[in-house]
Amino acid sequence: MVRRLGREELKSRLRANAPLVLPSILACDFGHLEREIELVEQAGAKALHLDVMDGRFVPNISFGSPSVEAARRATNLPLDVHLMIERPERFIEPFRAAGADGMTIHVEALADPRPVLEKIRSLGAWAGLALNPSTPLSAIEASLPYCDLVLVMSVMPGFGGQLFDATAIDKLRALRARNDLKAFLEVDGGITSETIGPCTEAGAELFAVGTAIFRDNDYGAAMRQLESAVARRATA
Ligand code: DX5
Ligand code: ZN
Repeated sequence: MVRRLGREELKSRLRANAPLVLPSILACDFGHLEREIELVEQAGAKALHLDVMDGRFVPNISFGSPSVEAARRATNLPLDVHLMIERPERFIEPFRAAGADGMTIHVEALADPRPVLEKIRSLGAWAGLALNPSTPLSAIEASLPYCDLVLVMSVMPGFGGQLFDATAIDKLRALRARNDLKAFLEVDGGITSETIGPCTEAGAELFAVGTAIFRDNDYGAAMRQLESAVARRATA
């Protein structure tokens, strides 16, 4: 049995590897989940992004905790679980038990995210808070001290393969400019080798990427292309 790392250990491991491209398995071939995960691991992925959708918070259904568990069996990579669901407080324990290392909830789904963020942390996982393109930064302000990660959505959540919404850039920039920010900055939706550079410059350090990896015949080449676009901007 592999020892699961604690929240702080995982965060420092992510920090040491950042900036990082996280393949979003929503776009993978679920008939061959294990193989797909093995391929992105070989391609250099250091963590995976898992999109949970309930058909209520977003107009699409993806998968639930059994699939997170299947991913957990297939890899030791940290699993960054993005919960696009209503009343996420009901599912924190099951997703943690299934193997989530971090869980990101949506600010639009909750009147007060704080207790849920605290619950995630109390289970030893990192706690993330996401906001949609149409949601202003002021909506997450009060919750920032309880976040290990802020996920800036660059598409309306629900589907892979959508076009990048540039409002994410201003949000990333404004968050990065804060000197009290301790959370990781992640961006998700429409990330390609063109859009990843501006996100890096704006301060993002984790990038959830679905179609730009899984629609490529060569996941390694796709990862390298994304990573070199990041490296060019990070050193520019
Ligand atoms: C969208 C999801 C994303 C999605 C990204 O609702 O949260 O993580 O998988 O897919 P691409 O990279 O195709 O936009
Ligand atoms: Zn996502």
